Amino acid sequence: MKTRITVLCENLVGRRVGSGEHGFSAFIEKDGRNYLFDTGSGHSIVANSLALNKDLRTIRKIFLSHGHHDHTGGLPEVLELKGDVNVHAHPGLFSDRTAVLKEDDKETKRYVGIPYKKAYLEFLGANFIFSKDFYEVEKDIFLTGEVPRKTPFEKPDPRLFSEMEGKTTQDILLDDQSLILNTKKGLVVILGCAHSGMINILNYVMQKTRKGKFYAILGGTHLDFLTPEQLEESIKSLSKMEVEKIGVSHCTGMRAAFRLHQEFGDRFFYGYVGSALEL
Ligand SMILES: [Fe+2]
Ligand SMILES: [Fe+2]
Repeated sequence: MKTRITVLCENLVGRRVGSGEHGFSAFIEKDGRNYLFDTGSGHSIVANSLALNKDLRTIRKIFLSHGHHDHTGGLPEVLELKGDVNVHAHPGLFSDRTAVLKEDDKETKRYVGIPYKKAYLEFLGANFIFSKDFYEVEKDIFLTGEVPRKTPFEKPDPRLFSEMEGKTTQDILLDDQSLILNTKKGLVVILGCAHSGMINILNYVMQKTRKGKFYAILGGTHLDFLTPEQLEESIKSLSKMEVEKIGVSHCTGMRAAFRLHQEFGDRFFYGYVGSALEL
């Protein structure tokens, strides 16, 4: 039985069909069963799923990487099609979050958390299953849960904040989690935004699965905001790992994507809307 992972939502469009948006979502077909990892921001998921011939009504489960709007904003659109479905996430999913971004030389604060209330999403059919732990969510499919932050060079994004009881604190995105498929060819890791740090995530996956061979690393790496030195540290650590393919998307940014291409050559591909990994 084939496993296929197709990028449904992403910043760039690489085929003749689909629309780009700031967000990420991947459609997973494994052993005759379908799953959804993240939902993008809501602008393109339904149109892109139709254009790419991926039927959202067939998904068995939804996995959410973290509570940012660009990964959760498409939930109502998906739920309206699918109806009742289990949605796996970290308990911190519904935190209020902001980002302070420089726009036209002035700082602008924006709300970047999940745009919908839990009760509303439940009304549409979401059955939330919260966990902080690494666990097998389906046979040979794992969620990392919270990832320990250990490398000195992967720092929290200084632009991101959490708003709680009137207090603003730096948001370290404890809810950030990744999905792992255990395949005969090796592990496939799908990152949402990798707010925990891509190397921290991969180290944790190796520790928990006791496997060291990555067939593919896909998704958003959040390498875009790192300093050149931090980016080089990340790439140096990644180069030492056994990685067959790397297909980055979304918050990786062009600078880091070009650098990864330079480093990984033919093993690198860009995970634009419509790109698929088959194994
Ligand atoms: Fe993101
Ligand atoms: Fe994010």
